[in-house]
Amino acid sequence: MSGAVADHFDHVAGSYDFWKQKNFYYYNTLKTLCRSFVPKGSVVAEIGCGTGDILAALEPSRGLGIDVSPQMIEIAKKKHSTNAALSFAVGDVCVMQQKIDAPFVVMTDVLEHVGDSARCMENLSHLVSPRARVVVTLANPLWEPVLSVAEKLSMKMPEGPHERITIAQNEQIFAEKGFRIVEKGYRLLIPKKIPGADWLNARFYQWPLLRRFGFIIFWVLEYVA
Ligand SMILES: C[S@@+](CC[C@H](N)C(=O)[O-])C[C@H]1O[C@@H](n2cnc3c(N)ncnc32)[C@H](O)[C@@H]1O
Repeated sequence: MSGAVADHFDHVAGSYDFWKQKNFYYYNTLKTLCRSFVPKGSVVAEIGCGTGDILAALEPSRGLGIDVSPQMIEIAKKKHSTNAALSFAVGDVCVMQQKIDAPFVVMTDVLEHVGDSARCMENLSHLVSPRARVVVTLANPLWEPVLSVAEKLSMKMPEGPHERITIAQNEQIFAEKGFRIVEKGYRLLIPKKIPGADWLNARFYQWPLLRRFGFIIFWVLEYVA
């Protein structure tokens, strides 16, 4: 699947920042979320970095962005060429062999595209150091029907090849591959900036009955095996 995925993201790379701007509320939430787990000035690797904006937003002392799409990497290199702390390389997280020498790894909206999450997490377990923290985010699978309609209405980027497995299946894979869940949560009950959204989004994830409807699900994992 990685050939088809790389082709898809090569195809959308030129318009990726347009889509991010269109859905700025969502992307800003992702950045804020990742920043809350990765202290400024850390050494960070981002897997599936796209055009590199989340990595840059983390203000790492050294940041490596890896993506299977050569076009995304080309754009990321150009966009962040004046930031000496950042470097970017083409790589497929499911098969790459280069070790990831970073205590923090970020993977936002990537696992649903890798084709085989178990294989990806297995390979990642051979690349990261013991105790590395891996921040994973996904769109909550409950929202898939809304996402499909939004895509048909050109309200979001074409998703391309993807598969949304359940939250429980993801967590089983994390456990089997040696990743302990340190923290798990949800964000964005309302993924668009409309009146009242900020108020509700800042609170709903503390309410047990509502939180599982959040648009973003995230985990902070620690590699322990
Ligand atoms: C939806 S985009 C998310 C980009 C970025 N993380 C963000 O949140 O803005 C998914 C990215 O993951 C990359 N990707 C998909 N499969 C991958 C793989 N096996 N290895 C590395 N990158 C991959 C895609 O090329 C794409 O740039």
